[in-house]
Amino acid sequence: MKVLLIGGGGREHALGWKIKQSPLVAELVSAPGNPGLATLGHCVPVDAENLDDLMALARTERPDLVVVGPEVPLAQGLADQLRAQNIAVFGPSAKAAQLEGSKAFTKAFCDRHNIPTAGYRIVHNEDEAKTYLQTLSPPFVLKADGLAAGKGVVIAADRDEAVLAARDMLGGQFGAASQTLVIEEFMQGVEASFFALSDGKTVLPLIAAQDHKRAFDGDQGPNTGGMGAFSPVAHMDVAMTKRVMDEIIIPTVQGMQTEGQAFCGVLFAGLMIGPKGPRLIEYNVRFGDPECQVLMMRLQSDLVTLLLACANGTLDTVPLPVWDARASVTVVMAAKGYPGAYAKGQPITLPVPDESEAVQIFQAGTSCDEQGNLVSSGGRVLAVTALCPSIEEAVSVAYQEIDQIDFQDGYYRKDIAAKV
Ligand code: AMP
Ligand code: GLY
Repeated sequence: MKVLLIGGGGREHALGWKIKQSPLVAELVSAPGNPGLATLGHCVPVDAENLDDLMALARTERPDLVVVGPEVPLAQGLADQLRAQNIAVFGPSAKAAQLEGSKAFTKAFCDRHNIPTAGYRIVHNEDEAKTYLQTLSPPFVLKADGLAAGKGVVIAADRDEAVLAARDMLGGQFGAASQTLVIEEFMQGVEASFFALSDGKTVLPLIAAQDHKRAFDGDQGPNTGGMGAFSPVAHMDVAMTKRVMDEIIIPTVQGMQTEGQAFCGVLFAGLMIGPKGPRLIEYNVRFGDPECQVLMMRLQSDLVTLLLACANGTLDTVPLPVWDARASVTVVMAAKGYPGAYAKGQPITLPVPDESEAVQIFQAGTSCDEQGNLVSSGGRVLAVTALCPSIEEAVSVAYQEIDQIDFQDGYYRKDIAAKV
């Protein structure tokens, strides 16, 4: 079969790498892809946020399955348009993608279905924000309602800072996405990213990973999309996973179905595991980046069978996925300056890949210059990912691989998975 993969980051390179291993797949087409994906199949220079061009591509390619990596085309309704053309797609409808696209929607949904999450208020102006902030104690958590490329959350240490943040956000810091804010209680605990697949009715648990959102060592510096990740996560043991499924994931899928917006795709729950159990921080409606890279390294089952069963509504016929017992760690090499301004077009030389399955370099923000040389083209450039018997060994193998990479303009955290 032919698979069309939408997106061109590290997550998509990892998905494409795993998709291409499927005995079901003869051809992989990526839009827009990247030089890493170009080693696995054909890349078409179509922007992952241009729905008209993506639909034209799908009509020409007639893929047997479309896999949508990023959230923006899902929120725009790409999956709805594909389904209307009878093209199988892994990814939720625009309505179901509200679980990521609107934090206010998700909070109200959690209330309706008794899903544990932080106490909150939805506010539309500074006065409402101030009134609610008076009832909370620091630190204060303020979130833009809509999609803000992972930058829409502010944790303010004191009330003045919180009021200023509310003013900036309501004043258009994130455009329409921050015209409405969710202000919420600060939750104590340890975090985990948990993933589950659904075809709208059936839910299949995947596994957990943990990422590192801050740019610099010791969790310092600005928030990023993620500077590294690891799996397994010790605090997400069998018992906690069952609680997360029973208390959060299953009620979500059932609630979405009964509300007429069945969720098909991967549900990515950001969790806070506290003294009273798991609570939902937020939902995403796609794989995490770079969490996906460690998940794909550990997945032993055929990914395409799973994604196709979600698309076709037959997830109840698919056995639980099998996972490698080994640990995976990914370290992101970013362009200096990221998540702020950074240079593009900086040269990168990768080591010659060896046949060992212990390490993979997933490409994210890369492209080829006119001479065909690999250069940087985004903030997060590479995700160097290892699979080893222990987290410690995976950390060591990932950093040894980084030593083999020549990317002068890059930086990376030196403490990925060090807390474990
Ligand atoms: P989000 O984009 O919603 O995942 O938030 C980004 C990060 O902010 C999370 O990974 C948490 O570290 C933190 N965060 C968000 N909401 C809360 C909360 N209510 N309590 C504590 N930390 C939070
Ligand atoms: N790494 C977090 C995310 O993909 O949103």
